[in-house]
Amino acid sequence: MYVCVCMAVTERQIHEAARAGATTLKDLRRELGVSSECGQCAAQARKCLAAATEAGGQRPNSAPAAPQCRIFMALT
Ligand code: FES
Repeated sequence: MYVCVCMAVTERQIHEAARAGATTLKDLRRELGVSSECGQCAAQARKCLAAATEAGGQRPNSAPAAPQCRIFMALT
């Protein structure tokens, strides 16, 4: 699911970035472009990163996406 619509960044990509060592929103911005356009995804991206970090960067295959990683839709 998309977390950052502007840059088409998915929850999976954030988990992969966490696994590769991303620990802050700044890391996600530098690596993936998260929150580099409208910025509306920042809070969700932080929550998703925190969930990814708690999970060790792994998203369990058998469990649904963590609620804090739900798709973000920019409504303008
Ligand atoms: S939704 Fe991420 S920068 Fe706009």
